[in-house]
Amino acid sequence: MRRWRSKKWQRRMSLKLDYNYMMSEFVGDGHGITEKDLRGLSEVAHEIHAELSASRESGEIGFFDLPYDSATAEMVSNYARRARKRFDNVVILGIGGSCLGPKALHTSLAGGMWANLASRRARGKIPRFFFADNVDPDTFDLLLRFAEPKKTLYLVITKSGTTAETMSQFLIVRQMLEKKVGRKRVADHLVAITDGQHGRLRNVVDREKFVDFTIPANVGGRFSIFTPVGLLPAALMGIDIDQLLAGAAFMDSRCSKDDLFSNPAYIIASLLFLADRTKEMNINVMMSYSDALYDVADWFRQLWAESLGKKLSLSGKEVYTGVTPVKALGVTDQHSQTQLYMEGPFDKVIIFLAVESFSSSMPIPELYPGLSDLQYLGGHSLEELFAAERLATEYALLKAERPSMTITLPEINSFTLGQLFYMLELQTAFAGGLYNINPFDQPGVELGKQFTHGMMGRQGFESMRESFDSRQRKKDKFMA
Ligand code: PA5
Repeated sequence: MRRWRSKKWQRRMSLKLDYNYMMSEFVGDGHGITEKDLRGLSEVAHEIHAELSASRESGEIGFFDLPYDSATAEMVSNYARRARKRFDNVVILGIGGSCLGPKALHTSLAGGMWANLASRRARGKIPRFFFADNVDPDTFDLLLRFAEPKKTLYLVITKSGTTAETMSQFLIVRQMLEKKVGRKRVADHLVAITDGQHGRLRNVVDREKFVDFTIPANVGGRFSIFTPVGLLPAALMGIDIDQLLAGAAFMDSRCSKDDLFSNPAYIIASLLFLADRTKEMNINVMMSYSDALYDVADWFRQLWAESLGKKLSLSGKEVYTGVTPVKALGVTDQHSQTQLYMEGPFDKVIIFLAVESFSSSMPIPELYPGLSDLQYLGGHSLEELFAAERLATEYALLKAERPSMTITLPEINSFTLGQLFYMLELQTAFAGGLYNINPFDQPGVELGKQFTHGMMGRQGFESMRESFDSRQRKKDKFMA
């Protein structure tokens, strides 16, 4: 298995973080972070680093070591190699952390929806990918009719094995498959990715002998992109998962020091924490100047929101922490959101995602020589225009005293994406330490899930049903 490229290549592909325009030296004292405040977190960074390292060593938190799990990568690759020959479509049944990672991988590294439009021949035996995600009956019906079951592989992804949305999708698909391909062939079309021991899906897998892959018990849904949750879909998409993991390992080694200033994950978390705590800037806009990276911003939105939005501190005190992540697309949202970012409340930090070198080059032709408001574009390229728009927006925001930082990928490939996903995960774990909350649980999501189980009549959830049924009635006077 080819795992590592040369050190020189890896260094060239290293992500860059530019946070000049976060600092008071540039943005001004009103909305910029002072170097003194940032340095002031050095000591606490040592402590959080030590705590994270301890939870890594004890095995309590598992995402740290996933980049080195080559046995899983090999298993996944072997299965994917065979499955790619058989199936024309892959449908992912999953939600939240069990869907957003595979979706971000498809958009960033496998051509996204454009790849789905190409013929089987042009795709080179890579199946089309569909993400059920939601339980909107109209969409799900369309999806099931669109992907011919005989040529479709369904990946059921759920860590808990009990999520109502995913399990409902599974039950519908299970029954449909029996009708369309026959009872004996159902298991050929279903793969389960779930917890090794717990959850209803695990029981079903064991009973029905589906092919299955395990999500380690110490890895939560939104941190699971480097488990089979992300790796199996990626391998089916034809993504180089060895390079993806190598990128993550590269970032891990870059972030192995507890020195704040040499650790990009810790720096980003610290800047966003200080912006929130000292400047009341509690909206973080991740603005991607790359269509391919837009769904990375969507993946990050869940990671940041679900990990940091917490009622209780580690000691059980009510703290109500959290920042609101927003995803935006450059340049598209310059014509939609930038007015607000420029002149609205001083409550936002912009995190630009930039790409140094795109794989395509698009020269703009020199036409209409007499028309000066068109002529200036000719002779340039779309990539030049893209970069100019990003730099212009960054500078305009600075002029309006709006802080921003930029994460640059030298190019979009498995290695750079591996770095980006890992850095954002580590940044989130570290931010949990800064806010003194547990970034790995989601009690708020659980409560909603329990009410749903109660309303759908699940045994053991009768009290949730009673609580819902006895809720204060809504009043007509507040209906229009
Ligand atoms: O991060 C998390 O744990 C959640 O967002 C889950 O990914 C989401 O709720 C889906 O859960 P499951 O994978 O158990 O179906």
